[in-house]
Amino acid sequence: MNDRALGIFDSGVGGLTVVRAVQELLPAEDIVYLGDTARVPYGSKSPETIRRFADEDVRYLLTKQVKAIVVACNTATAHALPMLKQRYQVPIVGVIEAGVEAVLADPQAQRVGIIATRGTIASHAYQHALALRRTGMVIVEQATPLLVPLIEENWLDHPATRQVLETYLKPLLEKKIDTLLLACTHYPLMVPLLQEMIGDRIRIVDSATTCALHLQQELSRLEMLAESEREGDLSIGLTDLSEQFEILAQRFLRKCPPQIERVEV
Ligand code: DGL
Repeated sequence: MNDRALGIFDSGVGGLTVVRAVQELLPAEDIVYLGDTARVPYGSKSPETIRRFADEDVRYLLTKQVKAIVVACNTATAHALPMLKQRYQVPIVGVIEAGVEAVLADPQAQRVGIIATRGTIASHAYQHALALRRTGMVIVEQATPLLVPLIEENWLDHPATRQVLETYLKPLLEKKIDTLLLACTHYPLMVPLLQEMIGDRIRIVDSATTCALHLQQELSRLEMLAESEREGDLSIGLTDLSEQFEILAQRFLRKCPPQIERVEV
């Protein structure tokens, strides 16, 4: 059982930031990655549609006999995780729980800014999870829909990106946040610029790294960690293939991806 692969899915290739973090922490795990590039973005879709897509993504991964599933997409976690957990017996880990735990790991965190897609912000999933755990916390949510396209253009330090970020960050900085939660697969690529713009007194928490840690704890608790000494394999399936997706995959994974296959869900 423990030798079976982990299934990780996202709306596109952004979830490869989570794959990278999982590979760093759990190098022995085989990973089957599904990116629903034919239907990306999920961030602007309705909750019903996101739930239907997420359900189809999970069904696809189950045909690969995976031992556990990671919902690497924040938007899909926000709208579909409870439904998926109820519907399937396989352990399913999302990114929100992990991000919330990472924020709360700092006992001083009292004023948290959350940036994410429109879909994630509209769900208030992070806000609810945080408010339940720490009373009196000030939580400021900000939808930042222009960031995914800017990151996909690789405009990571472009004047236009700085200008967009200034506008998005203004209400958060006015509320004097002490923590900035990056609640989207893509945003880890923007950490250097964000940190420069907000200064180092504000802690940045990204959900990719914390999700890998959370997954490790879950697999260990369930005694499902791969035990082999060899390095795990990664297979990538995308529902639409293009040169642009291959370029992006390399950027998010920070290395040359293995052969990418086109798959149907
Ligand atoms: N993967 C999505 C997320 O983390 C961002 C891209 C999209 O909108 O599909 O919310």
